[in-house]
Amino acid sequence: MTAVPSESSPAQPSVPLYIRSHRCGQLRAADVGSTVRLAGWADSYRDHGGVIFVDLRDREGITQLVFNPQTHTESHSLAESIRTEHVIAVEGVVDHRPEGTINPDLPTGQIEVDVHQLEILARPESLPFELSEGHDVSEDLRLRYRFFDLRRPAMQQNLQTRHRICQAIRSFLDQRGFWEIETPFLTKSTPEGARDFLVPARLSPGHFFALPQSPQLFKQILMTAGYDKYFQIVRCFRDEDLRADRQPEFTQLDLEMAFVTEEQVMEVTESLLKELTRQILQIEIPEPFGHISYSEAMDRFGCDRPDLRFAMELKDLKAVAEDCKFQVYRKAIESGGQVRGICLPGGASLSRKELDELTTFVQGVGAKGLAWFRIDPDKLYAPIAKFFSPQQLDQLRSTFDAKPGDVILTIADAPDVVAKTLAALRTNLAERFNLIPQGQFRFCWITDFPLFETDPQTHRPTPTHHPFTSPHPQDLDRLEAEPLKVRARAYDIILNGTELGGGSIRIHQQDLQKRIFTLLGIGEEEAQQRFGFLLDALRTGAAPHGGIALGLDRLVMLFCGLNSIREVIAFPKTQRGNCLMTEAPSTVDPEQLSELGLRLLSAKKKHP
Ligand code: AMO
Ligand code: AMP
Repeated sequence: MTAVPSESSPAQPSVPLYIRSHRCGQLRAADVGSTVRLAGWADSYRDHGGVIFVDLRDREGITQLVFNPQTHTESHSLAESIRTEHVIAVEGVVDHRPEGTINPDLPTGQIEVDVHQLEILARPESLPFELSEGHDVSEDLRLRYRFFDLRRPAMQQNLQTRHRICQAIRSFLDQRGFWEIETPFLTKSTPEGARDFLVPARLSPGHFFALPQSPQLFKQILMTAGYDKYFQIVRCFRDEDLRADRQPEFTQLDLEMAFVTEEQVMEVTESLLKELTRQILQIEIPEPFGHISYSEAMDRFGCDRPDLRFAMELKDLKAVAEDCKFQVYRKAIESGGQVRGICLPGGASLSRKELDELTTFVQGVGAKGLAWFRIDPDKLYAPIAKFFSPQQLDQLRSTFDAKPGDVILTIADAPDVVAKTLAALRTNLAERFNLIPQGQFRFCWITDFPLFETDPQTHRPTPTHHPFTSPHPQDLDRLEAEPLKVRARAYDIILNGTELGGGSIRIHQQDLQKRIFTLLGIGEEEAQQRFGFLLDALRTGAAPHGGIALGLDRLVMLFCGLNSIREVIAFPKTQRGNCLMTEAPSTVDPEQLSELGLRLLSAKKKHP
């Protein structure tokens, strides 16, 4: 027998049994004969006619323990009381598994540990659910008992991938000369389009800190101070409506560079993402990422973060629509709207009921209805076919290059409604009809965003990204006259239909920054009060600079093949923005409030 001590030697009696020599995923056939110490959670327990088998689990894997009543009476009788999730420590000798009991699916599947010493370290009183059935348990239950849910190997793998990604990012950016610099959490509002979380400042009654929506202003100031290349893996806080890929606190990989144009920022980002896919997914992406302009993306896909793993592009039907007799189409065109559609390959098999469901779906997204055309083997069939001449039906079919067996689905409405609903329909159908090839990672840059969009409430121009993004130099002379036509020096990186990140070249001249504030209706006094420190910094001489921020949670989610960022965040909030485990947010003592100089308007509005 050879001992394989690492953190301890099994020979020292004073060392607690739980000081391990190995982890549960580590032992192999080559270790047979070694005396080892393992500790962890009992994943399963089986009594096979006297011999007890326990699968011992830790972060690294599973090892089968054997308790033999003949050879080790004492530890065997103690083992009889082991149940799942008991925390135990053992010492034993590694042995080959008997012929026929080898488990090829388990890295430790060739061996077992014949236990001669056992200690039960903790006996759970009750368990919130069966760990092995965690994936079937409701998400609310999992989040309420997150401390238990986190034991599931699937969760541990997700968080390990997250750790690996962070380490790879740090190492890559360090090699590229980036410095990791922290910026404050207790700060002033940074406009990224969401509501701020506020923190009352006890020492300045009536004053509040805002938690940063991003480190945007601080990283720009670092550039004005000559830090050249900065990055941070940083928590951001946004009080906004939540979805599967949004959390009120989330993590960005934020970076900024001085003396650069778009190309340098894109090159670093692209090289980093390729390095990550190589290291984490073992996938090579040899070719450069594609570039699609914002207007082309809206035209072809109806959205600025298209999933490029499948086609089903939107086609314009204006030529057919304006001459046909279908009132819905004609009216849409006459009132400045659009008629556009997509062609679903093989969609002719959809039943009337299924087509009605699709109509309900697009109505849920905002469309008034859905008009469809089915390509039967001999002709094109549609309830509204009578409103179209044979030539128009031919034109319709050729616009989509539709084949027998396909169905064309069209929407007539205002351009933004058409885009939004067809984009949603495209994704919905691709998922439903399994048109999305698995294992593909389709990155793409979206460029040439408009600098401003119209605020639906105020009808004034509002920044598409944030107010520090530089306008395209060629569009400067129409900034005030035609603001909505000004292009931004901004870029988004998308991956498989998700916006992974966004960035821009910033304004580094204080005059231009002031001009943008004026255009946005932010007066000189307000600008000074809100962003005076940035304007002051720009006044001291700033290098041209630009950067990007990637949503780290989204990146990890996509790399893990998941569709909710909550699966890759150890302690996430629910869709309602609560933490079910800690029950935050919660009410506070009146004394705490009065210390902060605060009084609640309505005590009735207690948190649920
Ligand atoms: P932006 O607001 O586009 O840019 O954010 C960058 C990326 O952060 C991720 N993200 C989120 N992830 C989870 N939950 C959220 N609530 C959430 N909001 C955003 C997205 C997004 O693409 N300061 C700029 C960056 C820059 O210009 O350099 C910024 O924050 O993946
Ligand atoms: P209606 O004339 O309202 O009976 O509609 C006739 C067909 O056109 C129905 O299948 C509707 O779903 C469809 N339809 C109605 N409004 C629209 C629209 N805005 N775009 C596309 N199809 C529509």
